[in-house]
Parts: sequence; C-alpha cells; structure tokens
Amino acid sequence: MRGIVCKILAFAGTATYLGQDIFASAQVCSNSSTAIGNTPFPPLIEATLEDLAKGLELGLFTSVDLVNAYVARINEVNSTLHMVAQLNPDALAIAAELDAARANGTSYGPLHGIPILIKNNIATMDKMDNTAGSYALLGAKVPGDATVAAKLRKAGAIILGKTNLSQWANYRSYNTSNGWSALGGQTQAAYYPGQDPSGSSSGSGVASSLGLALAALGTETDGSIVSPSDANNLVGIKPSVGLTSRYLVIPISEHQDTVGPMARTVKDAAYILSAIAGPDVNDNYTSAIPCGKVPDYVTACDYFALKGKRIGVPRNLMALQAGDPLEPIIPVFNAALDVLRAAGATIVDNITFPGFGDSDYHANTEGIVLDADFVVGIARYFKSLAYNPNNITSLASLQNFTQSFPLEQWSPELRDTAIWQEALDLGFDNTSPEFWANYTEQLYLAGPQGITGALANYSLDALVVPTAFSSTVPARLGSPIVTVPLGRFPANTTVVANGIGTLNATAPNVPFGISFFAERFSEEKLIGLAYAFEQRTLVRDSIVPYIQPKTELVDVVSKRR
Ligand SMILES: *[C@@H]1O[C@H](CO)[C@@H](O)[C@H](O)[C@H]1NC(C)=O
Ligand SMILES: *[C@@H]1O[C@H](CO)[C@@H](O)[C@H](O)[C@H]1NC(C)=O
Ligand SMILES: *[C@@H]1O[C@H](CO)[C@@H](O)[C@H](O)[C@H]1NC(C)=O
Ligand SMILES: *[C@@H]1O[C@H](CO)[C@@H](O)[C@H](O)[C@H]1NC(C)=O
Ligand SMILES: *[C@@H]1O[C@H](CO)[C@@H](O)[C@H](O)[C@H]1NC(C)=O
Ligand SMILES: *[C@@H]1O[C@H](CO)[C@@H](O)[C@H](O)[C@H]1NC(C)=O
Ligand SMILES: *[C@@H]1O[C@H](CO)[C@@H](O)[C@H](O)[C@H]1NC(C)=O
Ligand SMILES: *[C@@H]1O[C@H](CO)[C@@H](O)[C@H](O)[C@H]1NC(C)=O
Ligand SMILES: *[C@@H]1O[C@H](CO)[C@@H](O)[C@H](O)[C@H]1NC(C)=O
Ligand SMILES: *[C@@H]1O[C@H](CO)[C@@H](O)[C@H](O)[C@H]1NC(C)=O
Ligand SMILES: *[C@@H]1O[C@H](CO)[C@@H](O)[C@H](O)[C@H]1NC(C)=O
Ligand SMILES: *[C@@H]1O[C@H](CO)[C@@H](O)[C@H](O)[C@H]1NC(C)=O
Repeated sequence: MRGIVCKILAFAGTATYLGQDIFASAQVCSNSSTAIGNTPFPPLIEATLEDLAKGLELGLFTSVDLVNAYVARINEVNSTLHMVAQLNPDALAIAAELDAARANGTSYGPLHGIPILIKNNIATMDKMDNTAGSYALLGAKVPGDATVAAKLRKAGAIILGKTNLSQWANYRSYNTSNGWSALGGQTQAAYYPGQDPSGSSSGSGVASSLGLALAALGTETDGSIVSPSDANNLVGIKPSVGLTSRYLVIPISEHQDTVGPMARTVKDAAYILSAIAGPDVNDNYTSAIPCGKVPDYVTACDYFALKGKRIGVPRNLMALQAGDPLEPIIPVFNAALDVLRAAGATIVDNITFPGFGDSDYHANTEGIVLDADFVVGIARYFKSLAYNPNNITSLASLQNFTQSFPLEQWSPELRDTAIWQEALDLGFDNTSPEFWANYTEQLYLAGPQGITGALANYSLDALVVPTAFSSTVPARLGSPIVTVPLGRFPANTTVVANGIGTLNATAPNVPFGISFFAERFSEEKLIGLAYAFEQRTLVRDSIVPYIQPKTELVDVVSKRR
C-alpha cells in the first residue's frame, strides 16, 4: 500500500521541507521526521491541498490523523501566539465520518476530509461560539450555519475551529491593537517575537501560515484579509463584495464586507474560493454575480497567465515620506515588476488615480458609509439570533454593555468605543440621502477616477501595488484583490512598535506581499496573474518563522500503528 513516491526532499536542519509535489516522482526518502521508511508525508507547514488529497487517497493517512496532527500543532504554539479561539469538539467525529465515506467510494470533492479554520465572526450551528471576540455574544445561539460555513461542509471540509480576530473585526476603537479581543487577549504573528499579526483576520493569518490547518477563512471590509496575509507570508483573496455570501457573518458594512480564503498557495486559495462562492437567497448582493455562475478558479491557475497582459502601477497610492518604515518594500516591489515583464507582461508605470488625490477621498466618505451600514447591520445581526444572551438589540445597547462589563476592558484612554460613538452621532443610517451621496461619491472616486478608469484609459488588464497600499481603493469599489508573498523586511530593520506600544509592527523578517487588483468579479483573471507570479518566485518558502510547531503527520500515524 505504501508506495515509494517521494521526490528530492531537501531538509534544512530539522524538517524544513523545500521540495514541491512530493508525491510526483520516485525517490526514496528516509531517516527524516516526515517519512516512515520509504513513505513520505507532506510537512504540514508546506502541504498543499493536492498533497493532502493525494495522501488521503493513497491511504497514507486519514482525516482523523489530519485533525489529530493539526490539534497537536495548535496546542504547541497557542499559549504564545493565541491564534485559535476555539476548537470544534465534533471535528474528530466529522473526520471519521468523512473517512468512512471515502473508504466507501464517496467523495464530496477536492476539499473532502480537509481541515479548515474559520474566523470567529462566521457563524456555525454547532458547539462553537460566534462572538467577534466579545462577551456581548458569548453564549448566543445562531439560527443556522453562515452560508460560507455550510458551503465548506457541503464540499467535505472539516471546520476545525474558530480563529482569534481583532474584536468586532477592528470596528470598536482607534486605539486598540490588531488581533486583540476582550475574550481572548492578544494574537501574535510568528515571524518575529511580539510581531503585530495585522488584522482583523489575525488568527486566520497566523494559523494558516504555520500549517495549523490547510488554510483559513477571513473577512475583509478594508484590508482585513490582505493585511494579515501580507504580514503572515500568505496568499489572500479578498473577493468582490457579493461573490461570497455574508449571511450570518457578524457585519461591519453590507457595502464593503466580504469573506475569502487565506492560504499558503494561490491554488489552495482558488480551491477554497470555488467552494464558498456563489449566489445565496439570504444575501441579495450575491445576485450581482455575472450570470449567477462562479468560474473555475483552479483552472485559472495558469503559469503563462502574465503573457501579453498590461499591468498598471498607480504610484500615487504608494507615496511615502522619507524615513517611512515601509520604505524597504519599494525596491523589492520594483524588482518584482521585472519578474512580471520577464513573464511577458507590459508594465505601464507611473499612472495616477486622480480619485485618490481628491479631497473628498480623504474627507471620511468611507467612515460615513461604514458607520451608517454598521448601525443597521449590527442591530439586524442581534435580531437574527435564536438566543441573544444579553438582550442587546442596537448599537447603543451594545455600547452600554461594553462600557459596563469589566471584562470588555473598556476605558476612555484605551480600547474605548469611539468608532461606535461616531456611528451613533451620525444621526442617519444607510437609507438616508446623506448616506447615498457619500456612497456614490466614493464609488466614483474609486471607480472612474481610480480602478475602472485606469483600466479603460490605459487599456490595462490589472493593477499592481505592494499589499500595504492595496486595500483602500478596492474596499470602496467592492472589487477584488489577490495578494501573494513578495519579500520580508531586512535584518537591519529598526523595530517599530504598534500605535499603543504592545506589539512589534515593523521588524526584521516580517513578511510583505504584492497585490493584483482590477474590476469587480475579476477574480478569475487575478488568480491567473497571481499564480504566474507566485510560481516564478516562490518567496514564501524562503521566509522562516521564529516559532513553529513540531508535530507532523508522521508522528500521529506512527503512534497509531
Ligand atoms: C491552547 O493551549 C492551552 C495550554 O496552554 C491548552 O490547554 C488548550 O487546550 C490549547 N488550545 C486551545 C484551542 O486553546
Ligand atoms: C456507503 O455507501 C452506501 C451506498 O452508496 C451508502 O448508503 C452509505 O451511506 C455509505 N456510507 C458512508 C459511511 O458513507
Ligand atoms: C484566543 O485564543 C486563546 C488561546 O489560543 C483562547 O484562550 C481565547 O479564548 C481566544 N480568544 C477569543 C476571543 O476567542
Ligand atoms: C519586540 O521586539 C523587541 C526587540 O527585539 C523585544 O525586546 C520585545 O520583547 C518585542 N515585543 C514583544 C511584545 O514581544
Ligand atoms: C432580497 O430582495 C428581495 C426583493 O427585493 C426581498 O424581497 C428580500 O427580502 C431580500 N432578501 C434579503 C435577505 O435581503
Ligand atoms: C516615474 O516617475 C518618476 C518620478 O517622476 C521618474 O523618476 C521615473 O523615471 C518614472 N518612471 C517611468 C517608468 O516613467
Ligand atoms: C433578557 O430578557 C429576558 C426576557 O425578557 C429576561 O428573562 C432576561 O433576564 C434578560 N437578560 C438579561 C441579561 O438582561
Ligand atoms: C444606555 O445606558 C444609559 C445610562 O445607563 C441609559 O439611559 C440608556 O437608556 C441606555 N441605552 C440603551 C439603548 O440601552
Ligand atoms: C484613545 O482615543 C481617545 C479618543 O478616542 C483618546 O481620548 C485617548 O487619549 C486615546 N488613547 C491613547 C492611548 O492614545
Ligand atoms: C457625506 O455626509 C455628510 C453628512 O455627515 C455630508 O455633510 C456630506 O456632504 C456628504 N458627503 C458627500 C460627498 O456627499
Ligand atoms: C480616465 O479618463 C477620464 C476621461 O478623461 C478622466 O476623467 C479620468 O480621471 C481618468 N481616470 C483615470 C483613473 O485615469
Ligand atoms: C539597511 O541596509 C541597507 C543596505 O545595506 C541600507 O540601505 C539601509 O539604509 C539600512 N537600513 C537601516 C535602518 O540601517
């Protein structure tokens, strides 16, 4: 049963895996912690979906083994990094059922039996909480699975647990920290001690990067998938608003929120996006999906996708003051443009988004859109609950709860509720003329005076910037972004703390990415470009975390035998 199916595994030090498709050819690997005799097991920090699916098919390991290995890995690092909020107590039973189905010749598709973590603002109708990191929702009961969670289950994935996040997806306070929530404390990232994990999908970023599941789901309103993917050496796909349903996802903004994958490779992210995308009667924004049909994002992964493409560089998005800690990113990004050229793309450099330079762009139109949406959306979420433990029905009552419940750690100086107060002070919601004036203005500045204008004026296929500058314009337009690892901060980087001094925001070895973006529903095209770049650079493999778990599949399987 155990074939000799290993190709040139390169081990650096302990068990760092540098090879690619380990099941592809016939070389013997032994005496390593990722093989039993001649049988190789994919090291979990690098294992792709196709690696795991192949191992499951060959019977080298089971989904139960996968769950046991991932749980052991989570337990090794969670006391330092705090990235997983809750494990699914049913995960092993679900894995056993999926193993039985597989043994019986039944497969639900490529994700069959594959463990995935989801952000703790995506509801599951099981034993896990959905809290956004707040005591206000501890013990709440939801009326069902979020549509994206239901779609993962239908595709055969095992929802392994819920990941820590910036509380309320970072929509409470200006002076809090990424990855902090009242319920669980501070998530940290793995590439430098005390590293700011970015946010708000902080735990999803850390967990996916360390191989604590195949991958994770995050949510984004403005940056919350692409920024933690940036800082955690990941591929992140922020889908168009409306491509993935937000039903039973704790909201910020119906006009900007979206759910997407955070994975170690473009192809893994593409598999997951294919599983979670699609129309949903419970989220009308999904009726904007062109023809109601989701493309095959996996076949979009084409090594030659960059050939003949025209790619614009909107430099005014990435203007930096001298001495900005982000400066080291720029030369690495400029070198990446040469990779794109060598792959057959034409770079149209130095274009400008006039909308980004407009004073209205910086006059808080987005803040007004989010506030007006949040007041309505958060009340609707509480109203949708099957059991609402604290009887919270409005943003005003949520604010009262938060300020009077000591464990929420509210104070006027730190982790206040200033963002909510602004929303309450607005005096209108997303049905008012003031809302629509702001919303249409931001669509105009981000569209004709930004993304869609540039695509048309310069006959471009896509745009590209370092990920640190990528989220704001697509956030306002509701358009997609795909980020891919690009590099890391050099060894002589000065360590810079986050705003409240509790984390290291910039530091040596902290990863950063490059983002491809274009018009709404252009994911298929962007995935192709990102894949072609990723396959030519494979930057992720060269950036090593300072902390990582040691348990591998082989340990779990040999213990079982
Ligand atoms: C995290 O680590 C602690 C020990 O530090 C352990 O008790 C717990 O089960 C681990 N897992 C989770 C998901 O918190
Ligand atoms: C095995 O297959 C049979 C026939 O297709 C089906 O009725 C049964 O439910 C399957 N069992 C499992 C565990 O999937
Ligand atoms: C965050 O993770 C820690 C352990 O990893 C857990 O104890 C805590 O409850 C989590 N926080 C939240 C908000 O779920
Ligand atoms: C941030 O980095 C400094 C310098 O390496 C280190 O002393 C400090 O402990 C780190 N911060 C945290 C929160 O770990
Ligand atoms: C979707 O739109 C239809 C028609 O306007 C409306 O009746 C329905 O309530 C909407 N559903 C949701 C979940 O918003
Ligand atoms: C872009 O603009 C800068 C500054 O004006 C200039 O130095 C550079 O040569 C320009 N690059 C291209 C490709 O036009
Ligand atoms: C919520 O309302 C119910 C019914 O009115 C009441 O029994 C319960 O005590 C209330 N809970 C809280 C925390 O106020
Ligand atoms: C919030 O608390 C204040 C002061 O206790 C009270 O007057 C007000 O009615 C509360 N508002 C809501 C919506 O619960
Ligand atoms: C936090 O923000 C509030 C205003 O929202 C301000 O009064 C307070 O000084 C800030 N605290 C810190 C530590 O910056
Ligand atoms: C946005 O809303 C504010 C009201 O808060 C209004 O004063 C302003 O004119 C609006 N902005 C635009 C661009 O319509
Ligand atoms: C595209 O061209 C139109 C018409 O000249 C102009 O108003 C707009 O600013 C241009 N947009 C971009 C992004 O260059
Ligand atoms: C780090 O080294 C590079 C290349 O030697 C140099 O250009 C840069 O100024 C240095 N940065 C710091 C913060 O010392």
